[in-house]
Amino acid sequence: MILCANFKANKTRQETRVYMAVVESFVSANEIDDTIIVFPPFTALEHVPRNVLIGVQNAYPAQNGAYTGEITLEQLEEFEIRTILIGHSERRHILGETQEQIAAKFRFFAENGFVIIYCVGEPIEIREQGDEALMRYVDAQFEGIDGHYPDLILAYEPVWAIGTGLVPTADQILSMHATLRAKTHAPILYGGSVKVENARSIMELENVDGVLVGSASLSANDFCEMIAQAAELKQQ
Ligand code: PGA
Repeated sequence: MILCANFKANKTRQETRVYMAVVESFVSANEIDDTIIVFPPFTALEHVPRNVLIGVQNAYPAQNGAYTGEITLEQLEEFEIRTILIGHSERRHILGETQEQIAAKFRFFAENGFVIIYCVGEPIEIREQGDEALMRYVDAQFEGIDGHYPDLILAYEPVWAIGTGLVPTADQILSMHATLRAKTHAPILYGGSVKVENARSIMELENVDGVLVGSASLSANDFCEMIAQAAELKQQ
């Protein structure tokens, strides 16, 4: 399983250090061999050897340059960050990233050998239009994206489930993940209101290879509990 904690614009550098200490000691004490990735804010990136991966929530696709407010490859290399989240719905819908910009970002970080967690997912009004509209919408999120990139991890995150407490039914997740499976051999994560209470039943579903957790990952203990659930599932 792959379990990701997306902090978004939460936690200070100091809070992240405390959090990482809890998760790292949990991972080593329990000999966890699942892939654990934490995405802290930029200000909490540091170059420390760890037993969990650190990824970046966003970066501009350039070596360096005149991109006010952005960070680029050069700053990531300083911290040996090799993992990036691309296409998150908050970047698409709040920050206004277009598919073209997202594809350029994907190409650049793929060329630079990053592990890419690529997010797709539909808003509620698209889901309400039925399966055909849903698939058309998700297909468009693959424009310019290499679904066969070897270091790709896909994340299905319905926009209406992110931060809302709403979760798709098991059938809705199964059906979307089966469709995505036909497009790529990459691991497929589910994201959107995953928490301790539902993580296990989501991770048990076919074609769900892990979870991308936002709000519920802000508690180190809750995130560790979800990691424990993934480890238990493997033993079954
Ligand atoms: P959420 O966020 O768990 O708070 O719904 C998930 C995400 O945005 O990746």
